[in-house]
Amino acid sequence: MTSFFIPLETASGETRVAATPETVKKLSSLGSEVFIEKGAGLLAGFNDESFQKAGAEIVCLTSNESFLRKSLIVLCLSAPNQELLSKLSHGSVLIGLLAPYGNKELEASLKKKGLSALALELLPRISRAQSADALSSQANIAGYKSVLIAAAALDRYFPMLMTAAGTVQPAKVVVLGAGVAGLQAIATAKRLGAVVYVSDIRLAVKEQVESLGAKFINLPKEVENPSESGGYAKQASEEFLLAQRKLLMDQLADADVAICTAQVPGKRAPNLISEEMLDKMRPGAVVVDLAVSQGGNCSHTKPSQTILRKGVKLIGANDLPRTVSNHASALYSRNLLALIRPLLKDNELCLSTEDELIDGSLISKDGVIRISQVFNSGGGN
Ligand code: NAI
Repeated sequence: MTSFFIPLETASGETRVAATPETVKKLSSLGSEVFIEKGAGLLAGFNDESFQKAGAEIVCLTSNESFLRKSLIVLCLSAPNQELLSKLSHGSVLIGLLAPYGNKELEASLKKKGLSALALELLPRISRAQSADALSSQANIAGYKSVLIAAAALDRYFPMLMTAAGTVQPAKVVVLGAGVAGLQAIATAKRLGAVVYVSDIRLAVKEQVESLGAKFINLPKEVENPSESGGYAKQASEEFLLAQRKLLMDQLADADVAICTAQVPGKRAPNLISEEMLDKMRPGAVVVDLAVSQGGNCSHTKPSQTILRKGVKLIGANDLPRTVSNHASALYSRNLLALIRPLLKDNELCLSTEDELIDGSLISKDGVIRISQVFNSGGGN
């Protein structure tokens, strides 16, 4: 019988949970047992009773550790803390957004305890994986919320309004990066009535941007575009970024809001708004930097901080999915279920690396590290 365990997330500021009563019910109906740590779902709007009704057993780590002797499939957002990792039995499997890039501590724990681990960040983005794509479900939320935060912080309306006191022009929003978060930010800003301009280095997104009613800012002509692989941008050269910043300078000088979502997996985020560009933005303008944990697209933004610089509000928005904890948990836990369900064979979790999804994301198998380059990379989870 497979045994799932959903711990209370312990990362600072985390509000989400990796299962909901809906997904627990489905796991139970597949013949699995589900242990949920007491209070794990409270900040996401799910109490222990609702999990119990769905078939889970509520466990308290301080009074009952016996279930940890089983080989567990641990469903989580972040990797569990060292204390919990040290208690897991050999052969247990971690499934979550494990932030493996440069994470030597996690690598050491996986080896020491003989654990398997699937890092959802590394799931290949093929059509079959769409329903399990946790990066997308969470980035979508971040893109939506970034615009609401910007609208709340802005000293202007978003829509054009014709009032008895005269006409108000619509806000101008510049979105940097039109991946999942960027596209949702564009759609949300458009719904609020803003005029939206967008920069991305993947020309493939131009059509998507325009179909949402936004304007695509053309790429620098004089420098070759960075290549892409698997739908992701590759890191741009400093020469390219210099040319790109020059192109963006005028757009930003005229903007009310900049939403920064440009990222390159496993690398530092590209610096797209320099100090000089910030100096040209009008007092009252707002920058929301979603890439802040990867070094940021905008100079001076800091994780979880709002900084007022010469009248421009710089918002380091690194944890927006956590602010929509109920829906973020619901979508995340469905992503996990979509990944796990096809892997359950005769009520055992089968991690066959012949499956492209497993091959791409299984960073450790029973403590043997398979994808060592992520642990050796310089960071950028
Ligand atoms: P991401 O978070 O890694 O990057 C966000 C955006 O930043 C990307 O569009 C990237 O091109 C852009 N960017 C990088 N450097 C930039 C620069 N210097 N200037 C401006 N923009 C820059 O990407 P995300 O959102 O995780 O997804 C990227 C793409 O992956 C999607 O657009 C899609 O093509 C593909 N995808 C495929 C899926 C599937 O088929 N299952 C699911 C989700 C995404």
